Amino acid sequence: MFKRISALMLAGLTAMSMAACGSGGSTSANTDGGGDSTITMGFSQVGAESGWRTANTKSVQDAAKNAGITLKFSDAQQKQENQIKAIRSYIQQKVDVIAFSPVVESGWDTVLKEAQNAKIPVILTDRAVDSKDTSLYKTFLGSDFVEEGRKAGKWLVEEYKDSTDPVKIVELQGTTGSAPANDRKAGFQEIIQPESKFQIIASQTGDFTRAKGKEVMEAFLKSHPDIDVLYAHNDDMGLGAIEAIEGAGKVPGKDIKIITVDAVKDGMQALADGKINYIVECSPLLGPQLMDLAKKVVKGEQVQARVVTEETTFTQEQAKQVLSTRQY
Ligand code: AHR
Repeated sequence: MFKRISALMLAGLTAMSMAACGSGGSTSANTDGGGDSTITMGFSQVGAESGWRTANTKSVQDAAKNAGITLKFSDAQQKQENQIKAIRSYIQQKVDVIAFSPVVESGWDTVLKEAQNAKIPVILTDRAVDSKDTSLYKTFLGSDFVEEGRKAGKWLVEEYKDSTDPVKIVELQGTTGSAPANDRKAGFQEIIQPESKFQIIASQTGDFTRAKGKEVMEAFLKSHPDIDVLYAHNDDMGLGAIEAIEGAGKVPGKDIKIITVDAVKDGMQALADGKINYIVECSPLLGPQLMDLAKKVVKGEQVQARVVTEETTFTQEQAKQVLSTRQY
């Protein structure tokens, strides 16, 4: 609504606008008076599948509060249809801006077109969509998942640089069809492919959850007694897999080397304990940048089409050094 209200009408309409936006399901509203309280954001979160996701939700909710943005929040429980319903409901409620982290990459054009027709700007956060029409959203804020996969692959190549024996790798993929699963797989493969000694002997989704990571790793261990390396697309699946590896009488980090992505506290603890060998960071702390972008797009200001999060990697030694100050 903000951008449709002229400067002259703004003062008179603010109270009405707040009443309309503030009703029906806001989970967080600013009351500190420090921000632009005329903005209402509808946010559709993927779910609560991982430690990363919990930290991301907190970051978005805290940042909305600090920025004075009224947040309508919904959890899609890893289902695309729930996200589409939430977005349609935000359109009906005439929110000022919609932000969402798409559970999968495909199938968004229709609902994004509906938002565009309703003149509600959309921000993609964390994950991308594969829509050809990039005018359907204003910007995409999040990690470079392909680069994360490359970083994982580079560590592996370095770790085995003196070995000529085959290196048998199993892969726990994230949610099927999601950008991080597609891209982390592609980036990793790009780096290891030139060397034929690296062989991915099994690759399956673990849905980014600890429980599924454990279940799939148990199956991998039964059918492949000779696994050298596990590449898990997030810490949670890696942590579930560690339980499976220990259950099978093997030592995680030694008998089977483990690379994961995220660097949440539990993952960093396992890295410091020697159970994981290397973690590629993926930052969930996107809230403050998201709120800044939201304010700009609602005002009709130009924003960068792509905002990439800054991230690093951690060895076991580095994890020991930073563990006590890790925020999430
Ligand atoms: O989209 C980011 C990914 O989603 C995180 O790496 C994973 O933990 C989460 O579920």
